[in-house]
Amino acid sequence: MKNLNGKKILLIICGGIAAYKSLEIIRLLKKNGSNVKTILTNNAKNFVTPLSVASLSQEKVYTELFNSENESEMDHISLSRWADLILIAPATANTISKINFGLSDDLASTVVFASDKKIFIAPAMNVRMWENRSNKENLKKLVDFGYEIIGPEVGDMACGEFGMGKMSEPATIVNHINNYFKRLENNKKFKALVTAGPTHEYLDPVRFITNKSSGKQGYEIARSLIENGFDTTLISGPTNLIPVKGVNLIKIKSADEMLKVTLSNLPTDVAIFSAAVADFKVKDKKNEKIKKNKFSELNLEKNTDILGYISNHNSLRPKLVVGFAAETTSLKNNSLKKLSEKNCDWIIANDVSRDDIGFESDFNQVSIFYKNNSEENLPRMKKSSLANEIVNRIISQLN
Ligand code: CTP
Repeated sequence: MKNLNGKKILLIICGGIAAYKSLEIIRLLKKNGSNVKTILTNNAKNFVTPLSVASLSQEKVYTELFNSENESEMDHISLSRWADLILIAPATANTISKINFGLSDDLASTVVFASDKKIFIAPAMNVRMWENRSNKENLKKLVDFGYEIIGPEVGDMACGEFGMGKMSEPATIVNHINNYFKRLENNKKFKALVTAGPTHEYLDPVRFITNKSSGKQGYEIARSLIENGFDTTLISGPTNLIPVKGVNLIKIKSADEMLKVTLSNLPTDVAIFSAAVADFKVKDKKNEKIKKNKFSELNLEKNTDILGYISNHNSLRPKLVVGFAAETTSLKNNSLKKLSEKNCDWIIANDVSRDDIGFESDFNQVSIFYKNNSEENLPRMKKSSLANEIVNRIISQLN
């Protein structure tokens, strides 16, 4: 497992019987060259001792949120900044619930709250606790927030019952983490470009034509690309969003600027055109504010179709071109028409007449049309989860 070599892993051990298996996780990570720092929750100390964890990890073990002897270090911040990745194993139902609700009443939960790193969660609990609706809801939310869940598995439980809830084996968990780093390493060679948000087409210095796009879907795609190791450029129209760290963000206002900046950032391996580019601009933009009694008719002209232009020029075309289709009627027919006319590889289509998805919403429900097949009516999901779904498909395609 060579991708673990030199990696800094922060392991959080919670209070469940599976905690004894975490010692084996530390051993395997160390054997494969990782540096491991460990936090024990108060309850974890009932199952494994700080001494055994410190001996195996060859590092100090962290247990307290406040340390009167060394408060200047602020462990909850320094530990989360130190780590390349955080692993919570075993994660109890209590910790899962605390993370979902943003509680931070001990070192473990505060580190998670303060972290900007990838976090893996390996749950372990009794089958009834696993199946409890609150637990299911909590986990669903954590997936939407971007946490990655490993396991659990079906098996005999320490309490004598049988079922789902057994923590995955240490080797499986460590392998999962190795694969994550491998994926990042593999994807580093890929360049991605994403367009997002609306454009503003000015009539005069203060008025413009625009649309309802929030940019959320495109920003989530850029986030997912970065988290998967892509060298990512995000070309964004005006939005209030803050992109994830590491994205090369270029802000533009008009469709003409978006076209110019997009061209100057090619070639890339993949381009995802999620921007709601305004289709028209005014022909004769005024430099002075137009007086209301001077308004006559607006003379509009078409903006260049950025996706169509790039996709139809062989020298500019990324290997994989993904377009979106915002439709209010005949979703399938219109999307297939866009797929062929704009010469893209995939069209991700959504119904923008619905209030519960699409423009301005945190949710989306799409169909994906490929050149020779389709995936129609994917479930309604958070834009963050849809972004991960799209990026997983991009990774498969590029590899
Ligand atoms: N698009 C683009 N440049 C434009 C218009 C659209 O790159 N000037 C891209 C969008 O980013 C999206 C796709 O084309 O990926 C489809 O956009 P959409 O708004 O659904 O369709 P339009 O091409 O604008 O056509 P219509 O408004 O007639 O549906």
